[in-house]
Amino acid sequence: MIVVTGATGTVGRDVVRLLIEAGEKVTAVSRHIADAPDGAVPMRADLADAASLRPALEGADAVFLCPAGDLLTGAGSPAEIVEAIEAAGVRRVVLLSSQASETRPEAVSHARLREFEGVLRASGPHWTILRPGGFASNTYAHIPGVRADRTVAAPFGDVGLPLVDPADIAEVAAAALRDGRHDGRTYVLTGPAAVTPREQAAAIGAAIGVELGFTELTREQAMARLSQVMPVPVAEGTLDIMGSPTDAELAISPHVEDVLGRAPRSFAEWAGRNAAAFGTMAG
Ligand SMILES: NC(=O)c1ccc[n+]([C@@H]2O[C@H](COP(=O)([O-])OP(=O)(O)OC[C@H]3O[C@@H](n4cnc5c(N)ncnc54)[C@H](OP(=O)(O)O)[C@@H]3O)[C@@H](O)[C@H]2O)c1
Repeated sequence: MIVVTGATGTVGRDVVRLLIEAGEKVTAVSRHIADAPDGAVPMRADLADAASLRPALEGADAVFLCPAGDLLTGAGSPAEIVEAIEAAGVRRVVLLSSQASETRPEAVSHARLREFEGVLRASGPHWTILRPGGFASNTYAHIPGVRADRTVAAPFGDVGLPLVDPADIAEVAAAALRDGRHDGRTYVLTGPAAVTPREQAAAIGAAIGVELGFTELTREQAMARLSQVMPVPVAEGTLDIMGSPTDAELAISPHVEDVLGRAPRSFAEWAGRNAAAFGTMAG
């Protein structure tokens, strides 16, 4: 049986679906989960309270560990979570970390993920660490502006990053959960090409059949928006990467292709698949 934490999230819900489609038994975990795809067992637990995970971990062979929300700013204990996983006899853990764990070694925003990585590497179970760059789905933040004004407002309009499709992260995670060839590996996950916020707006516009405007926000304006949906240190770290990416953050990683045997999905493909979320305005 495989336990998927963050099972209602962007990556986790695809991991659950892919594992079920592959014939695995799955326990889908989050704090508020109410139902799960056919065949998966939903269970509520709070990663901030490691003991609450124990019932879900009974009989588990592998765990997808997705630290999110207040876990990233100090709630709970990475060591206690990994101890609970180890004590349950789990053989393999796949951690959803971040590329910035390595590229921003001093950043407060990613200190918690570095801690999860360190604790996991020192633990008993086999591990695979996934370090994605920015998610294509972060552009869901533009939905209100696109629906209301046909405009995307973002900072650093001409700074491109190789955003990764969360569906690719989920496919890599499902592969690593099922196949020991990925044990002990750390994978950097990116898309196939850098795409600037201005180009993202054009791709979303093409997907929904309308030309979108683009408004460049100042860092301060962007901070005011981001800090409403994520903790301030995480928002600061995100803006640092968006505005001044390092060479490593600009590089296209081969790891999605290494694991899946195909190129990563493009931002345009992500936008096409998610067009309905931005509203259909063609015609
Ligand atoms: N977005 C990016 O650009 C980016 C880049 C690199 C890495 N990452 C990593 O990816 C992670 C986010 O993945 P995602 O987008 O798939 O997540 P998401 O859509 O934000 O969903 C978070 C999931 O975690 C659950 N959760 C939150 N707090 C929890 C807790 N205390 N105990 C148990 N479950 C909890 C949520 O469900 P409940 O609310 O029901 O608990 C939900 O299922 C981030 O945390 C970050 O570390 C993101």
